[in-house]
Amino acid sequence: MIEVKNLTKIFNRGKFNETAALVDVSLKVRDRSIVALTGPSGCGKTTLLSMMGLILTPTSGEILYDGESVLRASDYWRTQFRRQNFGFIFQHINLLPQYTTLENVLLPLYSSDLAPGEYEGKAREWFSRLGIADRADHLVEQLSGGEQQRAAFVRALIKDPMYIFADEPTVFVDEETSRLIYGIFSSLRDSGKTIVLSTHDPELMKLADEVFRFSKGRLC
Ligand SMILES: Nc1ncnc2c1ncn2[C@@H]1O[C@H](COP(=O)(O)OP(=O)(O)OP(=O)(O)O)[C@@H](O)[C@H]1O
Ligand SMILES: [Mg+2]
Repeated sequence: MIEVKNLTKIFNRGKFNETAALVDVSLKVRDRSIVALTGPSGCGKTTLLSMMGLILTPTSGEILYDGESVLRASDYWRTQFRRQNFGFIFQHINLLPQYTTLENVLLPLYSSDLAPGEYEGKAREWFSRLGIADRADHLVEQLSGGEQQRAAFVRALIKDPMYIFADEPTVFVDEETSRLIYGIFSSLRDSGKTIVLSTHDPELMKLADEVFRFSKGRLC
């Protein structure tokens, strides 16, 4: 269970460009569920996902994983926890353009205690499943937006993480690939994973066990 308690994020505090991106948000994410965050552009979805994924530090509030406050832990502990348990699919994809699709998936494994070579077969299986097997050895800068989004999926899922954070995961893909992605999220949930995503996609919201709507940084 993930518990978010009174979470607030103020960017550029005290400056002319101060922005209250998230204000006093509390919510719970049950294990083995899909939770969707939705709301207009700028309402705080990415900010919340980044804080839940321990990429961004809140201004105030608490985040608990299975009852443990993760914000009070050391930076080292948080980094380890994130590496071991989280898969993150970024809104802006964030692949390295000068590396191949396969390299992009395997490179992050070098920062863990894992042997990247052992994951190549698994990566190629995922590429096939997502219809990009023939792009595995192409440079990412030569991939279409939808192909890059699918590559970002593989990078997030390769380590079989317990929690998956997906920021607008179907914006760049066609309907057929969207359906494939709905199927992948469903089977991840069936296999015990917890998925928190942000989306405007009505089909993805239908798939979710719970939908939280935001407006100007607040739950509504
Ligand atoms: N690093 C930052 N520095 C300053 N302000 C920021 C930063 N990141 C986000 N913001 C502001 O915080 C607010 C929430 O941004 P956020 O990216 O969380 O929105 P979002 O709901 O994900 O929007 P979108 O649907 O466009 O992706 C916005 O007003 C944005 O301008
Ligand atoms: Mg966003």
